[in-house]
Amino acid sequence: MTETLPGAAIPNPTDEAAITAAVDQAIAAIAGAGTLDELKAVRLAHTGEKSPLSLANREIGGLPKDQKAVAGKLMGSSRGRVNKALADRTAELEAQNDARILLEETVDVTAAPRRRRAGARHPLSTLQDRVADIFVGMGWEIAEGPEVESEWFNFDALNFKPDHPAREMQDTFFVEPPEAHLVMRTHTSPVQVRSMLERELPIYVLCPGKVFRTDELDATHTPVFHQFEGLAIDKNLSMADLLGTLEHFTRQLFGDEASVRLRPNYFPFTEPSAELDIWHPGAKGGPRWIEWGGCGMINPNVLRAAGIDPDIYSGFAFGMGIERALMFRNDVGDMRDMIEGDVRFSEHFGMEI
Ligand code: DAH
Repeated sequence: MTETLPGAAIPNPTDEAAITAAVDQAIAAIAGAGTLDELKAVRLAHTGEKSPLSLANREIGGLPKDQKAVAGKLMGSSRGRVNKALADRTAELEAQNDARILLEETVDVTAAPRRRRAGARHPLSTLQDRVADIFVGMGWEIAEGPEVESEWFNFDALNFKPDHPAREMQDTFFVEPPEAHLVMRTHTSPVQVRSMLERELPIYVLCPGKVFRTDELDATHTPVFHQFEGLAIDKNLSMADLLGTLEHFTRQLFGDEASVRLRPNYFPFTEPSAELDIWHPGAKGGPRWIEWGGCGMINPNVLRAAGIDPDIYSGFAFGMGIERALMFRNDVGDMRDMIEGDVRFSEHFGMEI
C-alpha cells in the first residue's frame, strides 16, 4: 500500500506522466488490499481529500484557461479509473467474504454428534435403592427423619440413660447452642420412635439415610455415612420373625446361598439384642461370615416412650451400614473412594437404575 508522504509534491494536473504514475500507484495499492479494511485505508490514501489525485484536481481552478480543459479531461479519466478499480476490488472482496462466511458457518449434518458425557449414579444411592426395593417388595413403607435430631429422639427415647457411655461411644456431633439439645443423628434408630409416634399400628418401615459421627476420614471410617433402619411393630412378633425377615432380605441382596447368624450383644433400645452376621457367598477370597449390623426385639421401655402398650404389641428392629455393605459386596477397599466424587469410580458400577 502506498501512502502519500506529508509534504510530497502535488502532481501537476497537466502533467500526464505524473498523473498516470499516481493512478498506477493507486491501482497497485487497490490490487494489494487483501481485506475490506485494508481497502478502506487504500481508498482514503488515494482518493481522500489529501490524496495526490484530489490535490492535483484542486489545482485545476488556478490554471490558465487554455489548460483547464486538458487538465480536466486528464483528471476526470484518471480518477474514473481509480474509482472503477476500487469498485471492482470492493465487489471482489465482498464476494470472498461471503464465501468464507458460508464455509465457516456450514453445518455438517452428517457429522457424528458430540454427546455430553453422561454422569453415573453413585453406587451408594443404587445400593440404598435396592435395599429399599426389597423391603417395599415385602409390603414395608419407607420412612424419613431429620438429620439434625433432638437428643431425646437420638438417645433418651431409645433408652440411653443420661450417663450411658453409649452417648460418648457414638462420637456425637453436638449442635450449638447446647440448651437446644440437638445433635447430628448418630444412627437412623431415632426414626423408630418418630415412626411409632406418627404412624398407625401395625408398623413396617424402613428408613435409609445419612448419619454422622466424629470419626476421622480414613480407609474404613467417614464422619458422614449411611445406614438403613428397619422397624416392625405388630402383635405377636418374635425373634423368629426378625430372623426370617433378615434371611429373606440378605438372600435377595447376596444370592440364594446367603444366610444370617445372630450373636448376643447389647443395645439399650433392644432386648434381647444381637449382632448380625451374614454368610456372604460371593465374598472376595471365598464365602465367609461378615459382621454387618445390630438388631433385636424392641425394648419395652422404647415402646412405652412412644405410647405403645408392650403387653399388646411387640416389635423388632435392625440397623446396618450401607458403605460397609458396598465394601464387602462390591469389593471396595477404601471408603474414601466413595466420597471423593470421581465419576470414574461410579461408572465402574454400571448404570443400575
Ligand atoms: N443404631 C445402631 C448403631 O448405629 C445399630 C442398631 C442396633 C440398630 C440394633 C437397631 C438395632 O435397630 O436393633 O450402632
